[in-house]
Amino acid sequence: MTKIEAYLRPNKLDVVKSALGKFGIHGMTALEVIGCGLQNGYTEVIDGYEYDINLLPKIKIEVIVADNIVDDVVKLIADSARTNKIGDGKIFTYPVGSAMRIRTGETGDDVI
Ligand SMILES: Nc1ncnc2c1ncn2[C@@H]1O[C@H](COP(=O)(O)OP(=O)(O)OP(=O)(O)O)[C@@H](O)[C@H]1O
Ligand SMILES: [Mg+2]
Repeated sequence: MTKIEAYLRPNKLDVVKSALGKFGIHGMTALEVIGCGLQNGYTEVIDGYEYDINLLPKIKIEVIVADNIVDDVVKLIADSARTNKIGDGKIFTYPVGSAMRIRTGETGDDVI
């Protein structure tokens, strides 16, 4: 299993979630986060003073999937989230050690 972690524009959550659903993926976690990338946020002028606003609102989603569909899911998320403008986000993947459905005690691939 692999954990896919994607940082998205907040207004892209719905389209990404529905694309995942159509692909048959229903388990996911979404978090409201703040973050910055290459541009290090932006500078805003308020009452004549410049403020560096380094951390912008993003949505982070976490999806654990079987290893054989990781590439497809990453592409699906990227294609759904892309606007071709800076700040479109990033996707990271991590190996998952184990998984358990608490209700039944099932483990491994059956859990996702
Ligand atoms: N190296 C990183 N580690 C952790 N989170 C990151 C990292 N880079 C980006 N993020 C997260 O992804 C969000 C979106 O990043 P962003 O799309 O602006 O990346 P970028 O590298 O600046 O690319 P772009 O030039 O397309 O904007 C950030 O706000 C942050 O939450
Ligand atoms: Mg950026």
